[in-house]
Amino acid sequence: MKKYPVGLIGLAVMGQNLARNLASKGFPVMTYNRTTQTAEEFIKAYGHEGLDFCTTLKDFLASLERPRKIILMVKAGAPVDETLNALLPFLEKGDVLIDGGNSNYHDTIRRSQSMPKGIEFVGMGVSGGEEGALRGPSLMPGCNKEAWKVIRPLMQKIAAKDFSGKPCVTHVGPDGAGHYIKMVHNGIEYAVMQMMAEAYDMLKRMYRLPPQRISTIFADYNQGKLKSFLFEIAVPVLSRKDDLKSGYLIDSILDKAGQKGTGRWVALDALEHGAALPTLTEAVYARSLSSFKKERLLLASLYKRTIPKPPIPLNEFIIVLENALYAGMISCYAQGFELIRITAEDQKWKLNFAEIARIWEGGCIIRADLLNFLHEAFLIEKGKPVHLFTIPSIRHALNKDIPSLRAITSVAVQYGVPALAFGTALGYFESMTSAILPAQFIQGLRDFFGAHTYERIDRKGSFHTPWSNLNL
Ligand SMILES: NC(=O)c1ccc[n+]([C@@H]2O[C@H](COP(=O)([O-])OP(=O)(O)OC[C@H]3O[C@@H](n4cnc5c(N)ncnc54)[C@H](OP(=O)(O)O)[C@@H]3O)[C@@H](O)[C@H]2O)c1
Repeated sequence: MKKYPVGLIGLAVMGQNLARNLASKGFPVMTYNRTTQTAEEFIKAYGHEGLDFCTTLKDFLASLERPRKIILMVKAGAPVDETLNALLPFLEKGDVLIDGGNSNYHDTIRRSQSMPKGIEFVGMGVSGGEEGALRGPSLMPGCNKEAWKVIRPLMQKIAAKDFSGKPCVTHVGPDGAGHYIKMVHNGIEYAVMQMMAEAYDMLKRMYRLPPQRISTIFADYNQGKLKSFLFEIAVPVLSRKDDLKSGYLIDSILDKAGQKGTGRWVALDALEHGAALPTLTEAVYARSLSSFKKERLLLASLYKRTIPKPPIPLNEFIIVLENALYAGMISCYAQGFELIRITAEDQKWKLNFAEIARIWEGGCIIRADLLNFLHEAFLIEKGKPVHLFTIPSIRHALNKDIPSLRAITSVAVQYGVPALAFGTALGYFESMTSAILPAQFIQGLRDFFGAHTYERIDRKGSFHTPWSNLNL
């Protein structure tokens, strides 16, 4: 019986496309899916590409070369545990299980730690959506070195390529590190998209530009320092005509943004770690705000806005907005990498920030020229987890573009255009670059009403002041 170098379980869109990607790179794949009909239909359509399926897990396992390499692309959560439990009794020493779904990193740590001796477990973030899975995703595996050695040839072949042609995959770190990095990547994706949406909103509301005109501005941005997958796809999203009536499709799309939960995970994780993640968190809130459509319609009728004349000529505004987006996005990445640094310290993961930026250069949704810039910036620091704002090339870029971020945020405020992402990206920068913050005032208040004590800047120890005789 023919043996397959790799097996894949879970044939929804991601699993199907990843299996086809593997087969196209010279790794025939044996597949299995809980619902057999899905597997039958898949193999009927694509079996000739080097794919096959089994109807039982027993046959599936028997068909794989040893050590077995099994990729799970099933729904995150309980389905992963159920599938692992069904597989584990039949696995042998050296077999490697790779969870390529969007699993919560806490689950991945738990699963790694509870693997029977000799069975390797990899928690692998896969980014790039269905297209990336098929043509080359960004892969973020978390595992031990032995497992990485086994899966490396496969993963390097199917991954996207970075700016220098190297595969967008690296051994991120142990157990949950890969899924953690994927989660933060999703948070950054939320923030970047929110900032782009706010830029669109300003051009629409302040300058009353039609979608087609905004799409040409974004197309121009995509030729410059904002060149990225998201700006590339913004162009067809804005210029697409509506098939069902006259006008642009974008104007007929209901303004309620969905979310699958990874954004919320990042926000909660930042709160748990005491990390400052204002823009990524605000992007999650912005989606929540959008969901209150009925309430917004009512309130919009109660609080009418008058639209003043545009603040500066459009051609000038376009340039300032481009610079503001660039500075704002650097702020988003700084926040994301800081969260990673704090968690890595907590988990005792040794992570290479240059490598993390590098594997996001291709394949994934946030792929952008900016990531190559961040990769090179972190390389100067030998991949160490330093704060992004401290690196000279970043400082140079921010010194140049922060004034634009201030200008755009201030214009949005004057015009009453909500700019949550711009505002928080700027707020993060202003706070992190302030030697003194008004937290001293907060400490004074806390000590007044709750005797919470405070520290002093001029001597060690913990202090309490009997502020007044008021009995609160
Ligand atoms: N869609 C994306 O763009 C994207 C991007 C990156 C990562 N991911 C992650 O990749 C994974 C797969 O995503 P997807 O969108 O292709 O599929 P999905 O809708 O998340 O999951 C469907 C797959 O899981 C299987 N499944 C569900 N419950 C099961 C259970 N209890 N036991 C065994 N199998 C079970 C389904 O089998 P049946 O056919 O029998 O129902 C099907 O194969 C997910 O973790 C997802 O979050 C998705």
